[in-house]
Amino acid sequence: MIKIGDFTIKSNLILAPMAGYSDSPYRRIARRHGSGAVISELISADGIIRRNTKTTDLLRFCEEERPIGIQVFGNDVEVMREAAVIVQEWKPDFIDINMGCSVRRVFGSGSGAALLSKPDLIAEITNKIVTSVSVPVTAKIRIGIDADTLNYIEVVNVLQEAGISLISVHGRTRSQAFRGETDWDIIREIKSISKVPVIGNGDINSYSEAMMRLKISGCDAVMIGRGAIGNPWIFSGRVPDENELTDQIKKHLDLMLDFYGESGIILFRKHAAKYTRGLRNSKILRAQLMRAGSRDDIIGILENNILM
Ligand SMILES: Cc1cc2nc3c(=O)[nH]c(=O)nc-3n(C[C@H](O)[C@H](O)[C@H](O)COP(=O)(O)O)c2cc1C
Repeated sequence: MIKIGDFTIKSNLILAPMAGYSDSPYRRIARRHGSGAVISELISADGIIRRNTKTTDLLRFCEEERPIGIQVFGNDVEVMREAAVIVQEWKPDFIDINMGCSVRRVFGSGSGAALLSKPDLIAEITNKIVTSVSVPVTAKIRIGIDADTLNYIEVVNVLQEAGISLISVHGRTRSQAFRGETDWDIIREIKSISKVPVIGNGDINSYSEAMMRLKISGCDAVMIGRGAIGNPWIFSGRVPDENELTDQIKKHLDLMLDFYGESGIILFRKHAAKYTRGLRNSKILRAQLMRAGSRDDIIGILENNILM
């Protein structure tokens, strides 16, 4: 259990922010299955201050998702401050600063994990946001830019001094992107030196693995990203039968249609592929789902293939 600000994170398993996946429908599903909190995907501070509608659409969430954090990315102190102040209009429980994104579009522009190479800038951005908003501010980091610059101790100290309330850490460097293994020894070290709660993250693919990582790292919680796509049961350890699986897929599809309108069908396909991974006829099933153009098509395909 983690208490920050006015709210409590009651489960120590948390859905990781994932662009294109951790949207409002999937965040609601993750909460229903026991994720202790949820965080939006990274949202551009520049887009927020311009009130670009594509950007502000990403700020939408439902009461059911609480506690929810909105994650922002950027590298300009004033833009980040202004964006965080604007984000408060949507009344999230906390604001998370992205200091871990490794993709070229974000990193190359000096945001995301690029901030790790500039602890002074981290201090300035964090302090500015912390002193400008009334909700707790958290940060999601990696362990460094590359194997030669593992400056996580400095980064953690700077964040704490700047008033951060919680730190999530993906135990890889930026240059690893998603390759190699998560360094859980470093995550444990970060937990041991940190005065604020720490959420460890990287390569957790089952409930039992999550329990093991929690125990060994001593972290206050662990975050699960890819392992939760198509498997919200990872937050409870339940094993669904085929009826539950089909029911879940239908519910998810309906939430997406409700949230996005007709384009929800296309956006849902990548989730459908993950839900059906590992089923005996999953290859054929996936190919059919990828061509499905309506809700009825999807339901028909599922009923013919899963509930045979
Ligand atoms: C498709 C995808 C999108 C992601 N988007 C974000 C993001 O918007 N913000 C963020 O902090 N991390 C993002 N991440 C990183 C995850 O939050 C997480 O740190 C990483 O995937 C490692 O955890 P996992 O092994 O459990 O997936 C993303 C990862 C993936 C695979």
